[in-house]
Amino acid sequence: MKTQQKNGRERIALVQGASRGIGLALVEALLARPDVDRVVATSRRPEESASLARLKSEHGHKLSTLPLDVTEESSIAQAAEDVAQNGVERIHWLFNCAGVLHDEAGLSPEKKIEDLRPEALEHIFRVNAFGPLLVAKHFLPLLRHPDRAILANLSARVGSIEDNHLGGWYGYRASKAAQNMFTRTLAIEFGRRARNVICVALHPGTVDTNLSRPFQSNVPEAKLFDPQQAAAQLLRVVDDCTAEQNGCFLAWDGQPIPW
Ligand SMILES: NC(=O)c1ccc[n+]([C@@H]2O[C@H](COP(=O)([O-])OP(=O)(O)OC[C@H]3O[C@@H](n4cnc5c(N)ncnc54)[C@H](OP(=O)(O)O)[C@@H]3O)[C@@H](O)[C@H]2O)c1
Repeated sequence: MKTQQKNGRERIALVQGASRGIGLALVEALLARPDVDRVVATSRRPEESASLARLKSEHGHKLSTLPLDVTEESSIAQAAEDVAQNGVERIHWLFNCAGVLHDEAGLSPEKKIEDLRPEALEHIFRVNAFGPLLVAKHFLPLLRHPDRAILANLSARVGSIEDNHLGGWYGYRASKAAQNMFTRTLAIEFGRRARNVICVALHPGTVDTNLSRPFQSNVPEAKLFDPQQAAAQLLRVVDDCTAEQNGCFLAWDGQPIPW
């Protein structure tokens, strides 16, 4: 039986970047929650994710999938339209998870300035910084409603300017710093236009996914979270978020991170 709010409306979560890693673990954790009626999972090619297919077979209509490529605004707009046409009136949790640090096309974090490639910088900014902002732009009508809603953008501690003592990783660091500024700016606008939305940047910790795998050698075992643990921790943080935390940059344990 569905658990619904007193007003009878469904409580709906959308996870963008849900094919694998932290996004996939968030989908799984949200599906298990009795206070979530439906989960919409988006990724570039959801039909190719065996994990999403398995979850769909286990959870039936509670999970739906949609294609969404954050580097194509038309794809984001189409996904928002499809969600609304599928009868979704209100989104209560929106997690922007898609992110890149390295890829098979030769993107890898720069160690020195000579490694910089403008095309790589452009791509990483399009995914990590512009992506979450454009998703917010197109999903705003579904986030703005009388119920509490969370817009959580997966950021990274290395995007903190104040915390940057090691250097390197120009593109990834700067794209996350830009994403953080977008999140903060959006939170201020939401404070005026969508007061029910709490908009936060979240650092998940170092999580054992494809993204971090090449860079895990110096991470102590206890500091390397599996995706399920990371998802549970992030959900705890957003569950505890108050309106005063709108526009904050928070770590997996709820602690604020300096910008
Ligand atoms: N893992 C960590 O230690 C760590 C630490 C700090 C922050 N984070 C952040 O946490 C988030 C999730 O990372 P993860 O570790 O789960 O990474 P991951 O396992 O590599 O997953 C990355 C996700 O991003 C999606 N993606 C990439 N480009 C996309 C695009 N153009 N449009 C839509 N989706 C796209 C991928 O989908 P496809 O299947 O379509 O490629 C995949 O679902 C990222 O924002 C990352 O920066 C991770």
